Amino acid sequence: MNTTVSSSRSRTVLVTGASQGLGAAIAGAFHRAGYNVGLSDIDEEGVCAAARALDPTGESAIGLALDVREQTAFEAARDALVARWGGVDALVNNAVVTIVRPVLEIAPDEFDQVVSVNLRGTFVGCQVFGRYFKERGVGRIVNIASLAGQNGGTATGAHYAASKGGIITLTKVFARDLAPFGITVNAIAPGPLDLPSVRALVPADKLAGIVEGIPVRHLGSPDFVAETAVHLASAQAAFANGAVWDINGGLLMR
Ligand SMILES: NC(=O)c1ccc[n+]([C@@H]2O[C@H](COP(=O)([O-])OP(=O)(O)OC[C@H]3O[C@@H](n4cnc5c(N)ncnc54)[C@H](O)[C@@H]3O)[C@@H](O)[C@H]2O)c1
Repeated sequence: MNTTVSSSRSRTVLVTGASQGLGAAIAGAFHRAGYNVGLSDIDEEGVCAAARALDPTGESAIGLALDVREQTAFEAARDALVARWGGVDALVNNAVVTIVRPVLEIAPDEFDQVVSVNLRGTFVGCQVFGRYFKERGVGRIVNIASLAGQNGGTATGAHYAASKGGIITLTKVFARDLAPFGITVNAIAPGPLDLPSVRALVPADKLAGIVEGIPVRHLGSPDFVAETAVHLASAQAAFANGAVWDINGGLLMR
C-alpha cells in the first residue's frame, strides 16, 4: 500500500543488517536523532521485532526483508521508504556474514558466500542508492568496514577481512564519483566491539587476550559507532567524504 505516513520526522535512513548487534544500535541512534528508520535484514521476523522495539506504532520505524545481495531487494526497500516517508536521506551498509576459519581451511564456496554478502551487498547498496541520491542531488552513505579490513584481522577469517578491505576501497571509489552530485560516502572501521557476536565468535580466554592487547584495555561501544554513523549522515557532514573513520581503541594508529 503506497500511503505516505505523516511523521514529524524530516529525515529518513535505511540500515541493513539491523535486526541485531551493531545494526540495531545504529537504527536506535538514528531514531533517537529524529529520523524515520527503515530497519532491514534477511531475518524478516527479527528485524520487524527490532523495528517494533523502536516504535510499536510503526509511525517512525518499520522492518523490511532485504537480502543485500539482491539489487531488486534494495530497490524495493527504497521504493517502500519513499512511498511511506516521501524520500530517503541516508543509507548505512552494515549487514555482514562473519566466519572464523584458518585461511588454509576456507573452501572457495565459503569465500564466495562471505564476500557476496559483505562486499557485493555493499556495492549493490551504494549503486542503487547512488543512483537515487544522484537524482535527488543529495545523499549520505555510511559503510561499516572493520579494522580487519585494514590489518588483516585477529579473530576473523580471511574472507571477512578481505571483504572489509574491499569495502574501504569501494567507499573511496563511490565517494570520488558521487561527490559532484551532493553525495558523500564514508566508512567506519571499528575494532572489536562489546557485542554478542564477538563473544559468540571468540572463546572467552582468547577474548581476554585480545582486550589486553587493545591500548585502551576494553571493547568498543556499539552506541558510539552508531552515533558516528548518525554524525556522518547529517546534512552538515558535507565535507567529510571518502574517509575511513577508525574507532579501534588505538589498535591501529596511522
Ligand atoms: N562486532 C564487532 O566487533 C565488529 C567489529 C568491526 C566491524 N564490525 C562490523 O559491524 C557490522 C555489524 O556486525 P555485528 O557484529 O553486529 O554482526 P551480527 O552478525 O550480529 O549482525 C549481522 C546482521 O546481518 C544480517 N545479515 C546477514 N546476511 C544478510 C544478508 N544477505 N542480507 C541482509 N542482512 C544480512 C544478519 O541477519 C544479522 O542481523 C558488520 O559490518 C561488521 O563487519 C563489527
